[in-house]
Amino acid sequence: MCGIVGYVGGQQAYPIIVKGLHRLEYRGYDSAGIAITTDKQLNIYKQAGKVSDLEDFVKDKNVKGNIGIGHTRWATHGVPNQLNAHPHKSGDSNLALIHNGIIENYDSLKKALIKRGHVFESETDTEVLVHLIEEIKKNEKVNLFEAVRLALNEVIGAYAILVIDKENNEEIIAARKGSPLVIGIGKGEYFVASDATPIVEYTRNVVYLEDEQIARINKKEALEIKTISNIIKTPYIDELELSLEAIEKEGFEHFMLKEIFEQPKCILDTMRGRINAKTGEITLGGILDYEKKILNAERIIIVACGTSWHAGLIGEYLFEDLARISVEVEYASEFRYRNPIITEKDVVLAISQSGETADTMAALELAKQKGATILGICNVVGSSIPRLTDAGSYTHAGPEIGVASTKAFTTQVVVLTLMALRIAKEKGTLTNTEYRQIITELELIPKKVEKVLELDDLIKEIAAEFKDATNFLYLGRGYNFPVALEGALKLKEISYIHAEGYPAAEMKHGPIALIDEHMPIVVLATRKGNYEKVVSNIQEVKARGGRLIAIVTEGDKTVKELADYCIEIPACFEELMPLLSIIPLQLLSYHIAVMRNCNVDQPRNLAKSVTVE
Ligand code: M6R
Repeated sequence: MCGIVGYVGGQQAYPIIVKGLHRLEYRGYDSAGIAITTDKQLNIYKQAGKVSDLEDFVKDKNVKGNIGIGHTRWATHGVPNQLNAHPHKSGDSNLALIHNGIIENYDSLKKALIKRGHVFESETDTEVLVHLIEEIKKNEKVNLFEAVRLALNEVIGAYAILVIDKENNEEIIAARKGSPLVIGIGKGEYFVASDATPIVEYTRNVVYLEDEQIARINKKEALEIKTISNIIKTPYIDELELSLEAIEKEGFEHFMLKEIFEQPKCILDTMRGRINAKTGEITLGGILDYEKKILNAERIIIVACGTSWHAGLIGEYLFEDLARISVEVEYASEFRYRNPIITEKDVVLAISQSGETADTMAALELAKQKGATILGICNVVGSSIPRLTDAGSYTHAGPEIGVASTKAFTTQVVVLTLMALRIAKEKGTLTNTEYRQIITELELIPKKVEKVLELDDLIKEIAAEFKDATNFLYLGRGYNFPVALEGALKLKEISYIHAEGYPAAEMKHGPIALIDEHMPIVVLATRKGNYEKVVSNIQEVKARGGRLIAIVTEGDKTVKELADYCIEIPACFEELMPLLSIIPLQLLSYHIAVMRNCNVDQPRNLAKSVTVE
């Protein structure tokens, strides 16, 4: 999971590529590099660290040229140093290649190449591929397009690659399998990148390369695409809907904060056009043809990772509670390897912001092989999971650039709520009145989220009080249990404080031993659900001296007397409470991370989409 960008045309390539790399930095920020060719000369510059480190490094270097490729890396094979940074060059220094993905059989390919005299500089799988292309090009006496195609036939794994040749200053060869690649078509120029964000300000005409396709991108010619098995394809030109504002910070200090504050709008966008104002009828166009399958499903298996898995847990409560369908929620990474029992009667639903997560994709592929109906809930339009699934619904949250998921989570929960309600209505597991009441309440959620966001100053004060803690415990029950898990994940990933989420009642079976006067405990104690039981759990914490931050419903008196800090959020139905109760937890982790001087948008060791195992 790295970011790749390329340019060929009449403009200087360097500024376009560097700007693109900044936009793609969310995908990996261990090292960055660029290759530019001009007058049959290939200049490669790379540096460990961020794109800004690369910019400092090239300040006094020659970056002139109208064709180039750039890379920002999340390390898999080889430590994140300058040697392992991309681009990698061929043995004769003619070719430069950048890669997002993993070449699984690189070891055997490398051993064979070494036997044939190749010498490698790095520990990466990528360098093997550029040597292989070089060898095929020479031995078979073919052009670069053909050499790349033949080489990819020998490769097992996932890739999005860009290759340039210093002998040809007009052409980039691109290919993909399992990692995304978009080609932007301008006038006498082309842009190519891992997603559309580096392209959007230059052109709206794009071609999404499909798996196992390879493209010849020549600035003087029309785009040429074929499959790696040599079948010619006609490029399908899509129109980009992305706006430039959506990928900029617009005055916010960080993307994460912007994305937290965007949630009222995003939730509205997720619901837009899906609930009929007069009848309350829900229509999810993307899954319409598969509704019967869901209605008759013996069970729904939800597969996801990280935050999306937490949204899936809320989905379990929603589908079981409202639609009375049995649900299992699986970590995609476990599911794919444990020989799960899946039949044609199952519906397997993948949840993924990026639509590119390797484990989630593999879990879906397995389910597909076993004959299940496969559905998806994704944010990134045109990504791999929506292409793989039988049907699905987009969340319409807009680009999420902060590595920590925020608006992706709430909009996933909204789609799950809409799906569960629609099925409940069809199955008759809710009365008309119950159904209408939940819809009415759902429509009020954006306004209520706005009210929670007004608590930002209070949450900042609480953050200042707890910023130096080394451990946190998050407790919740029922619908608030997955919220506790998500709150703990948010804190650990951006502030590097150890945090655990637990079902509140489970605490006494072990974690209670951790509680002393130094341990902050964030407890979700909103009204309805298991409120009284949570109050008892709070008393157990209090008796052991723990410091309590409670998320309560406006007007609460009982918990207020027990907790050190109370964050009061508007009342709402239990089923919809996660959409409100997660907001203070997102803000709390954000402020703590900022106060600890952590890189909020690009936390260490992480990347936005995990396209490798
Ligand atoms: O793109 P996906 O939703 O499939 O990503 C899944 C996880 O990698 C992701 O949710 C991760 O846990 C986030 N960093 C959480 O904030």
